[in-house]
Amino acid sequence: MFPNTRSLFVWCLAAPLEVEGAILTSRPKPIVVSSSPPDNAGIPLDSFVSFSFELSSWPDFAGNLTHPNTFSYNLLNNIGQLQGSMPVARVGGNTQDIAIFDASQRTGLVGVVRPNISADYPTIITIGPSFFDSYKTMPKGMRYTHGFNLGANSSADRAATYASAAYACKAIGDNLAYWEYGNEPDLFFASGYRPFNYSEADYVSEWLNGTLHIEQVVKSACPSLKGTKFMAPSFAGVAANGYMTLDPVKVFKENLNADDNIGIISSHNYMGVSTSPGITLQGTLMNHTNVIAKAAAQLNVSRNIAALGGNLAPRVPFILGEHNSLARQGRPGLSNTFGAALWGVDWNVYLASQNISRSHMHQGTNYRYQSWQPIQTNLTDKGTKPPYYGNLAVAAMMAKPSASSILKITHLEASSQNTSFYTAHIDDVLSRILIVDLHTYNTTANNYTTNFPRPMVEHEFKLPKGCKSGQVQRLMANGSDAVTGITWDAKSYAYELDNGKGVRMFNVTCGESVEIDNKGGVKVQVPWSSAAIVSLEC
Ligand SMILES: *[C@@H]1O[C@H](CO)[C@@H](O)[C@H](O)[C@H]1NC(C)=O
Ligand SMILES: *[C@@H]1O[C@H](CO)[C@@H](O)[C@H](O)[C@H]1NC(C)=O
Ligand SMILES: *[C@@H]1O[C@H](CO)[C@@H](O)[C@H](O)[C@H]1NC(C)=O
Ligand SMILES: *[C@@H]1O[C@H](CO)[C@@H](O)[C@H](O)[C@H]1NC(C)=O
Ligand SMILES: *[C@@H]1O[C@H](CO)[C@@H](O)[C@H](O)[C@H]1NC(C)=O
Ligand SMILES: *[C@@H]1O[C@H](CO)[C@@H](O)[C@H](O)[C@H]1NC(C)=O
Ligand SMILES: *[C@@H]1O[C@H](CO)[C@@H](O)[C@H](O)[C@H]1NC(C)=O
Ligand SMILES: *[C@@H]1O[C@H](CO)[C@@H](O)[C@H](O)[C@H]1NC(C)=O
Ligand SMILES: *[C@@H]1O[C@H](CO)[C@@H](O)[C@H](O)[C@H]1NC(C)=O
Ligand SMILES: *[C@@H]1O[C@H](CO)[C@@H](O)[C@H](O)[C@H]1NC(C)=O
Ligand SMILES: *[C@@H]1O[C@H](CO)[C@@H](O)[C@H](O)[C@H]1NC(C)=O
Ligand SMILES: *[C@@H]1O[C@H](CO)[C@@H](O)[C@H](O)[C@H]1NC(C)=O
Repeated sequence: MFPNTRSLFVWCLAAPLEVEGAILTSRPKPIVVSSSPPDNAGIPLDSFVSFSFELSSWPDFAGNLTHPNTFSYNLLNNIGQLQGSMPVARVGGNTQDIAIFDASQRTGLVGVVRPNISADYPTIITIGPSFFDSYKTMPKGMRYTHGFNLGANSSADRAATYASAAYACKAIGDNLAYWEYGNEPDLFFASGYRPFNYSEADYVSEWLNGTLHIEQVVKSACPSLKGTKFMAPSFAGVAANGYMTLDPVKVFKENLNADDNIGIISSHNYMGVSTSPGITLQGTLMNHTNVIAKAAAQLNVSRNIAALGGNLAPRVPFILGEHNSLARQGRPGLSNTFGAALWGVDWNVYLASQNISRSHMHQGTNYRYQSWQPIQTNLTDKGTKPPYYGNLAVAAMMAKPSASSILKITHLEASSQNTSFYTAHIDDVLSRILIVDLHTYNTTANNYTTNFPRPMVEHEFKLPKGCKSGQVQRLMANGSDAVTGITWDAKSYAYELDNGKGVRMFNVTCGESVEIDNKGGVKVQVPWSSAAIVSLEC
């Protein structure tokens, strides 16, 4: 359905990558890459690179029927073209449990920002029927997860939520991926939506009751819609800790899936909280050891839920339905830098290697960790931000030549705190190697570029017999602190250049190939603070 991205090499001039500083050798012996994937290789779902949109920002990102957002459309299409499947848009987040449906409201969304509660999103919100028009503006092939309000618990608000399901199902139609009922209910006490004694059993009974009502409304408003399942439980945390008051495993023990209406298990993750002290690019984000540690906590939840068996077997996929670098919308100087894009590549591909099967990175207007700013505001310029380039690189790693081919992602043991290695096998044939260099490299501070030219690390691999050629595509910028001048495969996706479509940059190396010797040896040079995918013909 989608063209193979390798055809790009045809019209790109090859030029060697410029060496600025020392060439360092990564390890004494070549990394042996196996011809077939190991038994425990991760098998991601299609649409692995997906997004989560803050509900109050969804009209900004998608636009509406009279004003569709063509910039978002182009950016989402780029991902779909690379990956071979369009992203799934989950619409939800904190404002999902604030938005009250009002069938008589003409405007899609009316929101009031109260800066003393949150400067980042409105905390009084009503949505009208035309809110759902935003589900009709996006590229063909997009699927959606709409998040219903569980936080508001008056009978009037509940009735309004159920009524909204009729508008939602008519607008989304067959493009529905899942419904969602409630965002981060383990924070409902902290948010003031429920008392401290709100228990797993209370949540499960409310959730079962509400999802039953939603299903009944959908059945009568959209009788032809089949298989409408929910994504759940969408908890912020991996365990109860006093602040987060519900345990994700306990809610399954309390039989959250009693009605067999959970299609996908969703958890949320942030590497830290943006306002916490001690958060750094190198220590928190560009740190493969920290990536493994954060993923381990999610994998523990996934395993413990799977171990309960019951009607969740055979294994309902476990995904991150909302995540990004640093909670509370990110921190400037960290979440909006090229370093955060490199973290995003390492983190997401690691998740895929461990069967965390889909990734919805969270987006919101003016958010510091956003992949793009969808509209011009007085806080943030409309534009493509560094994390988007990381999304492209992950999509390229997940590319499948056809919908029926099987992609397997493996994390290589040779990885260390500052460099990670992955392979992609397609239908059990070695297809790609990904190298992510996580050494921070400052361009603006400490006179780095003059006093400490950017080092280049040479990695040597031993490939299986029969691998003939290798093409290199790079995720590149001047350094980990860069917020502009980012490229994926020598293309810029800047808003100013072509409204988010890829534009070749002639000052960046492209069309590189690497030589494979007759024993399968191949050397790939990767500068600090960059990533490279080597596509192989094996
Ligand atoms: C991932 O899932 C596949 C298919 O179920 C399985 O064979 C493999 O062992 C799993 N790997 C991990 C790391 O969970
Ligand atoms: C559609 O979007 C435009 C531009 O943001 C806005 O002016 C208009 O009110 C929106 N229409 C509805 C029905 O919300
Ligand atoms: C926020 O400020 C408004 C007045 O601007 C006030 O009425 C309200 O109580 C404040 N809320 C909090 C949580 O401080
Ligand atoms: C309903 O929500 C309010 C806050 O909005 C809370 O005070 C109350 O305890 C909740 N009721 C129940 C039964 O959870
Ligand atoms: C929970 O606390 C509320 C008051 O905040 C009380 O009305 C309710 O009875 C308590 N529920 C249980 C099960 O203890
Ligand atoms: C289920 O929902 C209905 C409608 O909102 C409500 O009247 C009823 O009390 C709920 N039952 C439970 C057990 O929560
Ligand atoms: C990287 O993360 C690990 C695990 O969280 C931590 O122990 C280590 O100190 C971090 N490295 C740096 C350079 O901060
Ligand atoms: C794994 O989950 C169990 C049960 O939820 C919990 O008791 C344990 O501490 C967790 N272990 C890790 C390493 O997170
Ligand atoms: C920025 O825009 C918001 C929303 O349109 C408005 O409320 C605010 O006053 C503006 N701030 C400045 C400094 O112009
Ligand atoms: C990069 O510059 C920032 C800001 O001056 C500094 O905090 C950080 O330590 C520098 N990083 C390195 C690796 O020197
Ligand atoms: C950067 O270099 C300039 C000129 O060589 C020098 O004056 C300045 O002190 C240097 N700054 C740092 C942080 O090393
Ligand atoms: C290439 O040119 C663009 C646009 O002029 C600039 O932003 C970027 O930093 C340049 N890249 C390099 C590697 O010099």
